[in-house]
Amino acid sequence: MSTTINNNAHTETSPDPDNGYRKYSIGRFDFERDEYFARIKCPTGTHVVDIENFLRSMMRDVAWGFFYGWVNFDEVIGTVNHYGSVDLYMGTYNNAYREAGTNYEERFDSQNLLACFKSILKDWTNEGFDPFAAPLETGTARGPKNGNNDAAVDFQRELADRFVTLPGDSEMRTNERGFPVNRQFSDVDQEEPEVHPEPGFEGEIASFNLFKYLSRSPVTWNPSIVSIVKNSAYCPTSEEHILPIDHGNDRVEWFIQLSDEISWRVGDKDSGAPRAVVTMKAGDVSCMPADIRHKGFSPKRSMLLVWENLTPGLELRYSSGELPPVPAEF
Ligand code: PHB
Ligand code: FE
Repeated sequence: MSTTINNNAHTETSPDPDNGYRKYSIGRFDFERDEYFARIKCPTGTHVVDIENFLRSMMRDVAWGFFYGWVNFDEVIGTVNHYGSVDLYMGTYNNAYREAGTNYEERFDSQNLLACFKSILKDWTNEGFDPFAAPLETGTARGPKNGNNDAAVDFQRELADRFVTLPGDSEMRTNERGFPVNRQFSDVDQEEPEVHPEPGFEGEIASFNLFKYLSRSPVTWNPSIVSIVKNSAYCPTSEEHILPIDHGNDRVEWFIQLSDEISWRVGDKDSGAPRAVVTMKAGDVSCMPADIRHKGFSPKRSMLLVWENLTPGLELRYSSGELPPVPAEF
């Protein structure tokens, strides 16, 4: 694969007189939408995607700054993060495309591709559609251009610098944050724990009600970070319906199911070939290996803790084979 970085910014047209949406180009990729679909074109072909799925995936890719490794929007298109640059691909991680020689990818400066994706997301998101919301809690993205929803697409996920409630964390200590308890978490206890540190340890001992915090999350499939200990990050999230992307991680990643149930569809990272279905119930712990992609299905709103290892350069140690793709071999 070419590692030349295309440093050109994107271009966009004026609004289409028929439906009101702009068209976007970056490198040799073109993006356009109509009332129902996004259409992505590159020199080897055209790919058509349901507009709501496309915007939900685009929302995650933008909000997470391309995340770790692969963000597959579906089985054909997506991005790979090289931390500074990023590949945009069509069919590169799909066996049928590769065998036919119709895969295509280009590497971009991350800031340029991010600016392009943000512009698409803003222009193509209509008033009343929130790409972070569960489908039962938002309107539709379909139809001709109808206003926008910048408040939703600019939503910033919450990232603590320290354990929540210790001095120096973010505003997350105000655990209600102005958000109501979600309709499916009305049974979640809202009491905060009492903390009585010994004199001298006041700034080091902390505790908060994580279930209360998650019961008030206004978004789905969007991990926040509630604690960082060296390179270990606890990223809890509230989940409902389908993780829009199919994540191919570049390191192992742990899941702790805190409530209810999620089924994970697990496939080979390079080809997408199915490998397993993992159904996790409250209390279950699993490790997603570094050589797979995974997509979650949560039939009702549930709470999940994603545990990430942020060690810089870890992706190179897995991709070189220095580290095995699983945390333990039996
Ligand atoms: C993941 O890809 O591991 C992931 C992403 C978002 C979530 C949960 C898990 O909300
Ligand atoms: Fe993941």
